[in-house]
Amino acid sequence: MGKGYGYGKVILFNEHFVVYGIPAIASAIDKKTIAEVKKCHGREFIIHDNREETPGYKKEKLEQQKESIRLIKKAMGIDECIEIWLSGDLRAASGVGASAASCAAIARAIADEFGMKFSDEEINEFAYEGEKAYHGNPSGIDNTCATFGGLVWYEKGKKMELLKIEKPVEIVMGDTGIVANTKKAVEGVRERREKYKEKYDKIFEEAKQLVYEAREALLSMKLDRVGELMNKNHELLQEIEVSSPELDFLVSVARKAGAYGAKMTGGGLGGYMVALTPGKELQEKVAKAIEKEGYYALRTRIGI
Ligand code: MEV
Repeated sequence: MGKGYGYGKVILFNEHFVVYGIPAIASAIDKKTIAEVKKCHGREFIIHDNREETPGYKKEKLEQQKESIRLIKKAMGIDECIEIWLSGDLRAASGVGASAASCAAIARAIADEFGMKFSDEEINEFAYEGEKAYHGNPSGIDNTCATFGGLVWYEKGKKMELLKIEKPVEIVMGDTGIVANTKKAVEGVRERREKYKEKYDKIFEEAKQLVYEAREALLSMKLDRVGELMNKNHELLQEIEVSSPELDFLVSVARKAGAYGAKMTGGGLGGYMVALTPGKELQEKVAKAIEKEGYYALRTRIGI
C-alpha cells in the first residue's frame, strides 16, 4: 500500500489576481489529506473518499475528481488500475485547497505504491495536472502550498519563494457551507475583465501594489497592517465580484469580534473566509462568534 499527503491552504492575498501573473501570498495550514493507493484488478481506478466534508462537496466534485485522477495517472505514466482511499483531518470544502491537497496526496501515494522516486518539484507538477480538472487553467498556487507547505510568495510561472516569519500566527477560517465552483469563478473574472477593461486594470494595479506591502508587513510581523491590507484585499475581490453575501457576512462577524482583518479566501462565491486572529484568546473569540451564527469555524495557523 502506497501512502502520501498534501496540505490544506489559505490564500491571504490576491487569489484570482494571481491567475494573471500578479504575486499572491498563501500559507499551508496544519490540516492534511492522506491518500493510500494499492494496485488492483479492473479498469481505471476505484475511489473510497472517506474525508469529512461540507455537506454536498464530494458529490458536487465527483466528476472533476475522476477527471483529476485520470490526469494525474496520465502525467505519471500509470496505466494499471489503482484503488484509492482518501482520509485525513482536512475537511473537504471550497476555499481551503481540498482539491490540491488530494492531488498532491494521490501523486505521492501512487509514487510510493509503484516504487517511483520523485522530487517535490515533480510531485507538484503532477498535482498541477490534477488541479486542471477542478480549475481549468490553475495558477499553480494551491498545488504549490499543498505539496511544499509553508508560507508562500507565488508568481505564476516562477519558482515559489518560502517566506519565513518569526512565529506562526493564529487564524480562523469560516465556512459559508456553500460548495463553490472555482472554474466558474475564474471564468467570470475573465469575462468581466475583458468587458470592463479600464476598471479592471485599475483594480489589478491596486492588488499588485498591495501585495508588496503585505509581504513587508508580514515579514516584520506588523500584524495590524497585515489585517488592514486583508480588509482592503477583500474590497478588491468584492469589486471583481467573486465574494458573496454569506462571505461578506462572515467577514463582518469576524471583524466585529476583534479580528485584525478578514477576507474571503480561495475561489470565492461561497467556500471559506479567513480572519487574522493573533493569539489563542482572540482566535477562540472570533471562532465562537462565527459558530454562534451557525457556521463551521476552523482554528488553524499560518507560517507553520
Ligand atoms: C483558488 O484557490 C485560487 C484561484 O486564484 C485560482 C487559481 O489560482 O488557480 C481563484
